[in-house]
Amino acid sequence: MSRIAYVNGAYVPHRQACVHIEDRGYQFADGIYEVWAVQNGKLIDREGHFTRMDRSLSELQITKPMSHASLMPVLHEIVRKNRVKDGLVYLQITRGVSPRDHPFPKNVRPSIVITAKSLNAQKAEQFAGKGVAVATMRDERWARCDIKSVSLLPNILAKQAAKEKGAYEAWMVDQTGMVTEGSSSNAWIITKDGVLVTRNLSTEILGGITRERVLMLAAERQLTVKERAFSVAEAKEAREAFMTSSINLVTPIIRIDEKAVADGKPGPMACALRKDYLQSAAT
Ligand SMILES: Cc1ncc(COP(=O)(O)O)c(C=O)c1O
Repeated sequence: MSRIAYVNGAYVPHRQACVHIEDRGYQFADGIYEVWAVQNGKLIDREGHFTRMDRSLSELQITKPMSHASLMPVLHEIVRKNRVKDGLVYLQITRGVSPRDHPFPKNVRPSIVITAKSLNAQKAEQFAGKGVAVATMRDERWARCDIKSVSLLPNILAKQAAKEKGAYEAWMVDQTGMVTEGSSSNAWIITKDGVLVTRNLSTEILGGITRERVLMLAAERQLTVKERAFSVAEAKEAREAFMTSSINLVTPIIRIDEKAVADGKPGPMACALRKDYLQSAAT
């Protein structure tokens, strides 16, 4: 079955989907994106992603190309046309096409691209069930990591470096030795005394939509939660560690650099929170 993309108002075959070479997303990474998890054909946390999308656009002074009401049917249609049961929807909005010049162009129309992709839910469960390794490295990103910008060069360099070290994700570490977040996920630990810790929201991390949902699930379980920074040393001594994102949901971490987390097996609370997530998303 051929994939279909949505580009500036038209549904086109994925192979032929393109934007102009002077799109500012291509020239300057002048744009934002969102990723929705799709489960059983349903977009998860639709509103939360809309809110973050609006915020990213407003921080970059990019005009919203469509209202939520107009966007909603397009998101559903792209899921339907691509027959996605489990997977994700990717949306990107850039400032638009204009002759290359740094200042914002006047009267430019933002470009919007939406795609959808299937993921094998069974394989994803098997993958998460084994847990993953992370490699720590210096956070070399800019000072506005709260904006979901398509400018991801430091993130991909970190992810590649992690991959070369045999790890699945990079945990980025600030100048004071504290973990900010993963290259494409939020970072969590459960301390020795059972406190669930994830970094507090600030311009240093992306406010994950999955992070929000997991905080809600943790509250339902009456876990003690602290939103604060934690060091690499503290993480290596933690009872459990895990990562969250729309793509990986809740995925246990079993190794940080060369150090196994606890007994080196996926932590029971991380596994329980993943189950909670799947269950809550299904309702
Ligand atoms: C840097 C970064 N942090 C956190 C996340 C997790 O965000 P969400 O849970 O909304 O997918 C992502 C997801 O792409 C990310 O790129």
